[in-house]
Amino acid sequence: MNEKNAHIITISNEKGGTGKSTVSMHLAVFLMQEGFKVAVIDMDGRQGTLSKYVENRKKFAIQNHINLIVPQLVTVAPRDNSVEYPNHISEIELAMSELSKQYDAIIIDTPGGKNYLFEEAHKLADTLITPISDSLIDLNVLSEIDKDNPTKNHAGHYAQFVWEMRKYRAQRGKKLLNWIVVGNKISPLNSRNKTMFFEHLNNIAKLYGFRVADGIKDRVIYKELFLQGLTVLDVKTEALKGRLTMSHLAAKQEIKSLAEYICPQN
Ligand SMILES: Nc1ncnc2c1ncn2[C@@H]1O[C@H](COP(=O)(O)OP(=O)(O)OP(=O)(O)O)[C@@H](O)[C@H]1O
Ligand SMILES: [Mg+2]
Repeated sequence: MNEKNAHIITISNEKGGTGKSTVSMHLAVFLMQEGFKVAVIDMDGRQGTLSKYVENRKKFAIQNHINLIVPQLVTVAPRDNSVEYPNHISEIELAMSELSKQYDAIIIDTPGGKNYLFEEAHKLADTLITPISDSLIDLNVLSEIDKDNPTKNHAGHYAQFVWEMRKYRAQRGKKLLNWIVVGNKISPLNSRNKTMFFEHLNNIAKLYGFRVADGIKDRVIYKELFLQGLTVLDVKTEALKGRLTMSHLAAKQEIKSLAEYICPQN
């Protein structure tokens, strides 16, 4: 068997609840449906949302006697004692280089705040995806907006952190981190807030070196599928057939276009 060299996709934002775990699971399922071998690493192992999502999927498939593709899951929780951090990082790097040989893509879900695992997830990434809600509060992690002078930008703490990670990678001869920001839970209604949000996001994209992918709308379907471990991409499965709506199909298209943004050759 030829050895692979997995593409590592880290899903992160230094802000909780923006949809990191939801996007991680959807991307994993999409890539597997496209025929790629995918592993997911839950680096938010203390909360374990992605781990529970994957476990729910396994259970649902067994209980309903259906075939569902399930990604290989690795759960990583932070060690309590900081003396153990360097050893833990070495263990993770070793495990990643082994996984990298077996999978086409490895998706890393991260916690909503900085710790040593959060930092490691950025050091390992080839592509960084940052889901962000369409709120000017959430935008602050990327750029602090001066309301009297919207063209004046001051990098937010997460944008500064990504800059540090890029410097770290450059010093080690690693290729430039491909950073994509995607609006998530976007309100379906047009509003002044939404217009301002996207105007500002697009204005700062060049400055901070990210691309803005088409957004993912706020849809109840993303919330309700968690307990069954299903995604909007599973609408063809028997268990979901009766519930297929236009909203599911539109949601499926949103995930597809995000994946195509990451891997345009698909
Ligand atoms: N596009 C969407 N539409 C509606 N609800 C969504 C969408 N994306 C995520 N959610 C919901 O938002 C909440 C937060 O999502 P999720 O747990 O994926 O975020 P997170 O960034 O991983 O959070 P944390 O920082 O706690 O790890 C969940 O209730 C999830 O179901
Ligand atoms: Mg999460």
